[in-house]
Amino acid sequence: TIRIALRITSRDVPRGLCPRWFYLIFEGERKPMKNKIKNLLKEKPSGREVELHGWVRTRRDSKAGFSFIEVNDGSCLKSIQIVADSNLPNFKDEILKLTTGCSVRVIGKLVESRGKGQDVEVQAKEIEVFGWSDQSYPLQKKHHSFEFLREIAHMRPRSNTFGAIARVRNGLSYAVHKFFQERGFLYVHTPIITASDCEGAGEMFRVTSFDLDNIPKKESKVDYKQDFFETPVFLTVSGQLEGEIYASALGDIYTFGPTFRAENSNTPRHLAEFWMIEPEMAFCDLTQDINTAAEFIKYLLQYTLDNFPEEMEFFDKFIEKGTSDILKHVIEKDFKVMEYTEAIDILKKAEVSFEYPPEWGKHLQAEHERYLTEEVFKCPVAVINFPKVIKPFYMYLNDDDKTVRGMDILIPRIGEIIGGSQREHRLDLILKRIKELKMNPENYQWFVDLRKYGTVPHSGFGLGFERLILFVTGMKNIRDVIPFPRTPGNAEF
Ligand code: 4AD
Ligand code: MG
Repeated sequence: TIRIALRITSRDVPRGLCPRWFYLIFEGERKPMKNKIKNLLKEKPSGREVELHGWVRTRRDSKAGFSFIEVNDGSCLKSIQIVADSNLPNFKDEILKLTTGCSVRVIGKLVESRGKGQDVEVQAKEIEVFGWSDQSYPLQKKHHSFEFLREIAHMRPRSNTFGAIARVRNGLSYAVHKFFQERGFLYVHTPIITASDCEGAGEMFRVTSFDLDNIPKKESKVDYKQDFFETPVFLTVSGQLEGEIYASALGDIYTFGPTFRAENSNTPRHLAEFWMIEPEMAFCDLTQDINTAAEFIKYLLQYTLDNFPEEMEFFDKFIEKGTSDILKHVIEKDFKVMEYTEAIDILKKAEVSFEYPPEWGKHLQAEHERYLTEEVFKCPVAVINFPKVIKPFYMYLNDDDKTVRGMDILIPRIGEIIGGSQREHRLDLILKRIKELKMNPENYQWFVDLRKYGTVPHSGFGLGFERLILFVTGMKNIRDVIPFPRTPGNAEF
């Protein structure tokens, strides 16, 4: 600790203040600051003393009595090279025993590197081993399949691929907030536990505090009055309905949270627990909704290119060639807007044998979506005006009485990334829809009230965050872009 004392005399002190000793104390540890490897690699080889912490990726010993240790701390893709001299006190006993996976603290000088591939390296003065590892460490320096890495989800963030995905995922979470905050949207926290089924698909996980071996019954039916919430409740499939409440008071809002779906689809683009971003905008129609969605997607892709050049280079090289190009392509292209009915016509005429034949009144399948965006239009596509029979109760009914103002945004390699709509804001029509679909009106009374008191045209959409990460990283399976995937039969970690 260095202490500096300054004597301030009466001449320096404003009149009226008693002259006395003032001490300015600079308390600083002599130890160098702990550094992130990301920042060290950008520095000039000044010879300054640095301290860093991380995990050993590899160790290689030279005949001249040096050890070269690659250390990674997760702050960036690259590792930093540590040069350890045989003079170090623990050289024989510890440094020569370092293996992949060990954790270390290194203090040394940041100097110019004579090796290839890096400008700087650290000439170690001190290497402390925090934790040892051994040959059973599952991430040895060889190629591991993603299936294998899924089984060791507690270790996979230490690999290059999963480290890069985690950094991009973090960056894009920030960019989501940045986009909406810059545009005056309010972030609203909608509930996870809910009694309403927003999407009406009945794919909900039940929440209860009942002892499942001994469920209270009344007249041979489950007596929910005795359950925690005194009514059947579920994990939410969407924050939209509550989002509409806040949009109906504050204008533009968004949610960003976990959503749950008990759909038993084991596909590379479905999770049982996924994160969704749902903006909801008052005084907004379908066209403005599509424009916001397009602007949002483009913003997120540009953010990725601007902030993650190293990761993008890695994805291009090792995950999927042309990933950056496809992002640029989507940023540049206008989104093609087309009617569902027209999309079905095109699909029916297509000289492709689809697994599921396209048919008016049925959902578009991933194969149909990809055909439209990849083969026919070669740009993002917003499909609008779907048959009401395949869409939820809340969508605005068109004058034909057959279609609703829904929109799905399709992008190459993924298919549907966004689902949204203009909402039915007319009281009589929302009541009619709730009745038609035999929904329990009691659960939606507050939703109806929004239409009863000061209703306004409003619209919104939901973007599946993992589908976005799939797209920007070029990864193939949605299980690999969320830290701990939940899918049918899998809830480990
Ligand atoms: O199309 P969806 O079901 O729309 C809604 O939930 C609306 N309430 C959104 C709104 O208007 N506020 O879901 C929206 C998006 C889909 O386009 C897809 O990207 C993603 O959420 N998604 C899933 N992602 C991963 N796994 C699943 N099981 C998903 N289901 C939907
Ligand atoms: Mg959808």
